[in-house]
Amino acid sequence: MRIGIVTISDRASQGIYEDKSGPAIEQFFREALSCTWEPVFRLIPDEQELIEQTLKQLCDEEGCALVVTTGGTGPAPRDVTPEATEKVCDKLLPGFGELMRQVSLRSVPTAILSRQVAGIRGRSLIINLPGKPAAIRECLLAVMPAVPYCLDLIG
Ligand code: MTE
Repeated sequence: MRIGIVTISDRASQGIYEDKSGPAIEQFFREALSCTWEPVFRLIPDEQELIEQTLKQLCDEEGCALVVTTGGTGPAPRDVTPEATEKVCDKLLPGFGELMRQVSLRSVPTAILSRQVAGIRGRSLIINLPGKPAAIRECLLAVMPAVPYCLDLIG
């Protein structure tokens, strides 16, 4: 199985700071998955068209069953990850965002600022995570129990 790991950040993509969230996603799956899998990394700026192109490429050409994005889910003008995700998905899965915000709220009151979504494109599941490294484990732990069954249903 291939898993797309997409960091969406203007500053990390310019090398102004190090991307810690992409590696945190990889680390999570290294610990959580017992099956063989391969990460496919992308590090891109907060540009809606580029995000859409990247998601399409990972789902349609790279054959990623699962694509996890990090960053660009907030209310700032450059935060457009949910818009790009919604645009490329055939179906949205609102329960993912609802659950991740609910779980995150236990540790940070600002969790409601994330507009993170999840959805299906073809045979791929796309999940948005906030850009904070601390959010990665919290959010993925919450939704992972539903992910294998979801992949079975769409695969
Ligand atoms: N969720 C978790 N679990 N932990 C966090 O630290 N930060 C919040 C929110 N969700 C946060 C979180 C904040 S401060 C913002 S602005 C939004 O996610 C959006 O973050 P993003 O634009 O980096 O995606």
